[in-house]
Amino acid sequence: MSILDAHAEALSILDRRTRTRTLITRAGHDFASNDYLGLKQAPELRAAVADALARGVAIGAGGSRLLRGNDPEHEALESEAAAFFGSEAALWFSTGFAANSAIFSTLPATRDLIVHDALIHASAHEGMRLGKASCVSAPHNDVDGYADVIRTWRAAGGRGRVWIAVESLYSMDGDRAPLTDLVALAEREEAFLIIDEAHATGVFGRGGRGLADGLDGREYVMTLRTCGKALGCEGALVCLPNILARTLVNKARGFIFSTAPSPLMAAAVRASLRLIATQPERRDRLHALIAASAQIFADRIDVPPSGSQIIPVILGEDARTMRVAGAIQARGYDVRGIRPPTVPAGTSRLRISLTLNVDEDIVLGLAEAIAEAHTAT
Ligand SMILES: Cc1ncc(COP(=O)(O)O)c(C=O)c1O
Repeated sequence: MSILDAHAEALSILDRRTRTRTLITRAGHDFASNDYLGLKQAPELRAAVADALARGVAIGAGGSRLLRGNDPEHEALESEAAAFFGSEAALWFSTGFAANSAIFSTLPATRDLIVHDALIHASAHEGMRLGKASCVSAPHNDVDGYADVIRTWRAAGGRGRVWIAVESLYSMDGDRAPLTDLVALAEREEAFLIIDEAHATGVFGRGGRGLADGLDGREYVMTLRTCGKALGCEGALVCLPNILARTLVNKARGFIFSTAPSPLMAAAVRASLRLIATQPERRDRLHALIAASAQIFADRIDVPPSGSQIIPVILGEDARTMRVAGAIQARGYDVRGIRPPTVPAGTSRLRISLTLNVDEDIVLGLAEAIAEAHTAT
């Protein structure tokens, strides 16, 4: 069998399980992006980019940060981000995926344990796969379950340090991590807490500082603030103690052997951080939409509120989920079906993402379309 035939065969197996993915052109009302504050097209952000171009900010970095690619815009962004979030240092990566890959593969040592939430993002798994520490999943949001994992590992002779990895707001469920209890656990176990704030940054916390607002700056905490979601840009800021930032600069292969992200994008992210801090009205509008939508979904399709802008409508079976999603898309609402391995088997779902790109009337229309697609398919 040729290589192409082997891949064709693998794809047809996926196809039979309704698991193939295809790229589709964007269409319909936006219930699928993470552009929560509607910033990716905001005039203020466009103006900031035009201004950066006018003051001569480069489009490309031209090399790795460790060679010629280190640009004043990168450094300005990192020092502004550290000051804004309250961490000792910040390091900017080209994507959240690259940042998580670097963190998990570089910082925990061979003898260490990473206890991670069962629903942690694929990018954290990627880093753990590349790293050498032992990695054990704990039941979702079950702090006692995390403690059990640590106890069992120690009883079996584990002698290294413990890292606890969570998302503050889970990307496919929209629920929050019990951060207060996790902080207490980290303190009790002398563990290090890695908090992925991808979906909370810009949306929650003082000035959009996220759900971990107030924890940055502690010597056992690091946060990841992705810039491609509510910030409307691209990249990810890792906020962490200085010594760990220096370790990543010296040891993270994805940071060292890669062209630095665009200085122009760094300027855009700086502008976006200022926007989220100074425009609370965007956040207020989003929270009003979240509250109104929670009521609409509870009344019309019996879906409980998630407490955030991410609302899962769990349908269970893969094929049915994709049929329902297709029927809703045909009505002009861009809602995507999410299947395993992105979510656990048997929990395929519609992931509804609320952004300022829609309003309450459009959400009402969506709820009706879901109710009809539900009964028709
Ligand atoms: C929780 C979480 N972490 C990290 C990432 C990766 O971020 P990026 O899209 O910037 O690569 C995502 C993206 O979906 C995410 O949901």
